[in-house]
Amino acid sequence: MHHNSSLKFRIAPGKLLTTAVLIVTMSISTFLPAQRAFAIPAEGSKMMISAPSPYAVEVGKKIIEQGGNVVDVAVAVGLTLAVTSPYFAALGGGGFALINMGDEVEVIDFRETAPGKTSPSYYKDKAKDASITGGAAVGVPGFPAGLYEMHKKHGKLRWSKLFAEPMRLADKGFNVSGAWVKRAKRTEKRFNDAGRKHFMKKVGVHYKPGEKLTQKGLVKALKEFKRKNVSGFYEGFVAKDIVQAVKSSGGDLTLEDMKNYKVRWLKPLTANYLGHKIYLMPPPSSGGVVMKSAFSLLEKLKVHEKAPLSVDELHLMAEVLKRSFRGRATLGDPDFHKNPLDYLLSEEYLNEMAKGVSLSKAKSLKPITLKTIVDSNETTHYAVMDKNGKAVSLTVTLNGSYGSGVVSNRFGIALNNEMDDFTTRPGQPNMYGLIQGMGNTVEPGKRPLSSMSPTLVEKEGKMVMAIGAPGGPRIISGTLQAIYRVLASDWDLDSAIQAPRLHHQFLPDTVFVDRNRISPDALELLRKRGHKVEESWGARVKGVRINEEGHIEAAFDARSEGAAGGY
Ligand code: DON
Repeated sequence: MHHNSSLKFRIAPGKLLTTAVLIVTMSISTFLPAQRAFAIPAEGSKMMISAPSPYAVEVGKKIIEQGGNVVDVAVAVGLTLAVTSPYFAALGGGGFALINMGDEVEVIDFRETAPGKTSPSYYKDKAKDASITGGAAVGVPGFPAGLYEMHKKHGKLRWSKLFAEPMRLADKGFNVSGAWVKRAKRTEKRFNDAGRKHFMKKVGVHYKPGEKLTQKGLVKALKEFKRKNVSGFYEGFVAKDIVQAVKSSGGDLTLEDMKNYKVRWLKPLTANYLGHKIYLMPPPSSGGVVMKSAFSLLEKLKVHEKAPLSVDELHLMAEVLKRSFRGRATLGDPDFHKNPLDYLLSEEYLNEMAKGVSLSKAKSLKPITLKTIVDSNETTHYAVMDKNGKAVSLTVTLNGSYGSGVVSNRFGIALNNEMDDFTTRPGQPNMYGLIQGMGNTVEPGKRPLSSMSPTLVEKEGKMVMAIGAPGGPRIISGTLQAIYRVLASDWDLDSAIQAPRLHHQFLPDTVFVDRNRISPDALELLRKRGHKVEESWGARVKGVRINEEGHIEAAFDARSEGAAGGY
């Protein structure tokens, strides 16, 4: 074991330096090396946006200037991302949003659904990657319906107004980012012919960062959506183009599936933590259930009394996450499956879980067997919040980067591979290493269990934070720890988001820690307490927060591309 001072490390940037100084004062500590990327947070006093693309933030700002409310901004940001960031926010994806317009927090579920011709054994005789690449991986897209229904209920500006800038970016073009190029390159082999046609310059040639991409086909699809709203996407020539693309690449999506798609309005789950009320995403996400359990265990175990990023704190965080993720495999779409929330979130179960935690030793637990308790990874997040706490916290995904790799031929709409979030082959891990339960089997019209966790935080009756992340199951641990750093460690939002994190999802029984960001000393000590530790990647958190001074902070994770801005 080395002493901290013997370690060579580069100086952390900006305010992270203060954190580094703070933590080297502890006998054995974690440390923060320099980051590869810088995030530039922003503050304002009227309305702020945190999103994965600078174009989206600029478009959002124009909508604020036009007098739009947070929902108008969220819709315009979503449409812009469909143009600039198709790998995780194309119209062929789906997601969730928590919305606060002042009266009560509402949840809109625009997750993809399983096509009518699927069944629990749909993947049994298909190729091993059929739920990941190609037409059989595609669920009925929900993003367009989500944007439309949100606007219908709460929008202030005219629907058509929100399309002007996104359509201009598709028509006149925008300059692709380095991340955009990387993702197109990475997907080249998985793309169908239309994917290569729309997202490569020509056969065998990729765009370079900074080059202009125009999407004339997408302009037409957006125009149809603008004119005819949901029927412009779910019926007619756009739907036909999508169904055709899925069919010709081995899937079973029909025009009827498209026409039948409906969003759901749900009630949020809520948790209390250190005097705050936290609004969480209910099933079909596992996020809220796992986070509610985790906040309860964090409070019971008084984890906030440990020094930030100390080995004690990291150890306890891992033990809390392990126990909270334990119940995930019992969950599924509530319209199809009885979720055992009464059991998982009961004081009795949570006390039992808390009692099993030891400060000196990691403990393994057996999986929950569903019978004993019931009868019978590409995504993005953005957040918008105004000075009154009105907010939209929205996570949208195609699941993998560019989803299934299937792109519609005429309009260049990238389609999701959300079907991989179902239990496609019982007992076998999915793309994110998750072992899924029997409440999450494939059934027509059903939504796959998700980890997406758009979240809102309220203090003394006032909404003070809108936050969330992409990252598969790491969404849950990432969002949780960012909130924890603000509420428990009292850090500003940017520092809270950039701070090193860990992840434990029960199975595998491994603590995944941010690569190169927690000292070898600390990792060694975690191993000594009995954890299997692996350096890995983390979620990419984005959020907006009203701080103690009443200023609105918008921040995004330097772990990936993003932008923050507003007024
Ligand atoms: O809904 C889910 O949990 C996944 N489809 C999310 C995938 C994701 O976050 C990808 N990002 N890395």
